[in-house]
Amino acid sequence: MSEHGAGSEGRRTALITGITGQDGLYLAELLLAKGYDVHGVIRGQNNPKRDLVETLLPDVTLHAGDLTDMSSLIRALRDSDPDEVYNLGAVSFVAYSWENAAHTADVTAKGALTMLEAVRLHCGDDPRRVRFYQASSSEMFGKVEESPQHERTLLWPRSPYGVSKVFGHHMTINYRESYGMHASSGILFNHESPRRGPEFVTRKISQAVAAIHLGRQDELVLGNLDARRDWGFAGDYVEAMWLMLQQDEPDDYVIATGEAHSVRDFVTAAFGHVGVDDWSGLVRQDPRFLRPAEVDRLVGDASKARAVLGWKPKVGFDELVAMMVDADIAALKAGW
Ligand code: NAP
Ligand code: GDD
Repeated sequence: MSEHGAGSEGRRTALITGITGQDGLYLAELLLAKGYDVHGVIRGQNNPKRDLVETLLPDVTLHAGDLTDMSSLIRALRDSDPDEVYNLGAVSFVAYSWENAAHTADVTAKGALTMLEAVRLHCGDDPRRVRFYQASSSEMFGKVEESPQHERTLLWPRSPYGVSKVFGHHMTINYRESYGMHASSGILFNHESPRRGPEFVTRKISQAVAAIHLGRQDELVLGNLDARRDWGFAGDYVEAMWLMLQQDEPDDYVIATGEAHSVRDFVTAAFGHVGVDDWSGLVRQDPRFLRPAEVDRLVGDASKARAVLGWKPKVGFDELVAMMVDADIAALKAGW
């Protein structure tokens, strides 16, 4: 690992896009704990998540900006002057990406290029002055060609989101190869937490199970119960992002647990955690939640990350499910 950056006060500076999201919050906490000066890009004229970030992370400096607006990114870079940039901002909900494919491409695909170009311009004569992390995704593997998936597995995306992530992934590699930038890409498999957005299946399940357990909801309505995902804990995964930027050489890494579970398994574990063994009368399937093209099974091989970064996940599947259900029960009881 290399010591880079660290200005006159011996403190490194990081700029995060997507700081209001699940990963942005965990990453900002991690970097603050490591002594970083942390900055984040926040979009919109009155972002409803600004209060959350300012309450949870009062030491973070926020800069108004949008991934579709190059000048706002250049200003955020100029005003924060970071050693490390983490590009986590994206339209990240796969189902939504069919309904808003062009917007998804603008933010998730072209936004990554816009950020890369802004960083390149900011670096001036020294392309390695700033280290760059791109949030790539296992969704890029889509109609998987082999299992488990690794860094050289063929990319066959199945959604506008997946296609957009492939563009950002290859642009990151291209900027590394064309300009010598320290640009790395983390191919992260699904990672969850109590901070996961309620539109994603794990949080939809944990919230519903908590509400059913407390007698406040009657049923849980889902789509495809057979899809399989490699689910890890977001807190573990942001550590891998940071480790990638501490390496002398930039590279691409798969980050995963190596274990696949079905949506049905997640439902069983979540209900099991509150003492319900037979949930058949509590869950209904609705074609509304099926996708035009499904990714049936994702499972990752993170052996490169383990060998080079020394990274491995700490939180297992059952612990993750229990953590999410417990957090949602506590939130409901507290009236949040
Ligand atoms: P998330 O909770 O959905 O957060 C997405 C973030 O992107 C939010 O902060 C959002 O800001 C921001 N954003 C959206 N549009 C933007 C725009 N036009 N300009 C600037 N920022 C914008 O996602 P996450 O789970 O934290 O994931 C972080 C990143 O990792 C994403 O790029 C995602 O695609 C990728 N990823 C996630 C997973 C996973 O399992 N979580 C796996 C692989 C890759 P607002 O709050 O203003 O909407
Ligand atoms: N959201 C949702 N809602 N998904 C459902 C539902 C439902 O009611 N019922 C079944 N599913 C299935 C989906 O069809 C999919 O196969 C699986 O549950 C997981 O869906 P999501 O939780 O929405 O996540 P995702 O795998 O599509 O995408 C997430 O992981 C990607 C990494 O592989 C997102 O975080 C992406 O941003 C990320 O890149």
